[in-house]
Amino acid sequence: MKHCIYPGSFDPVTNGHLDVLERASRLFDRVTVAVALSTTKTALFSAEQRVGFIRANVTKLANVEVVSFDGLLVEFARKQKANAIIRGLRALSDFEFEFNMALMNRHLEPKVETIFVMPNEAYSYTSSTLVKQIAKLGGDVNHFVPANVARALKAAK
Ligand code: PNS
Repeated sequence: MKHCIYPGSFDPVTNGHLDVLERASRLFDRVTVAVALSTTKTALFSAEQRVGFIRANVTKLANVEVVSFDGLLVEFARKQKANAIIRGLRALSDFEFEFNMALMNRHLEPKVETIFVMPNEAYSYTSSTLVKQIAKLGGDVNHFVPANVARALKAAK
């Protein structure tokens, strides 16, 4: 059974994340989306909200589950008996940070491989940070996020 973890802050989930997730669900028997409780970033949405936004958009993907996790990612992966960590790579600018994180995670847990998945190029400039900024300033984010997230961003303004 090939099982991967797709971790992230997902604050909030974007269409780019959902594109990566759909690709991962085709590659693996089981995908666990892992919403990080503690990251270096201050979250706009609670972990429950972030998990809920994703769950509502993956009902058609039978092999995907969505949970939150705390602590080290590799520790969570080990407990879940996952073989791999999936990370999305939008552009070259993502690479350095992702490369360092992948090598550090491999040092901590050599049995878990990081696999990079490229989202559709239409999402190469989509990020949760930019989406939050645009929504806060009254811009239209419907192209970048699912409808439930667009509504929540509007309400959070
Ligand atoms: O969506 P993000 O913010 O780029 O996701 C980053 C995330 C949550 C995957 C990363 O910060 C993480 O793995 N946090 C858990 C703590 C951990 O294991 N840190 C060491 C990473 S080398």
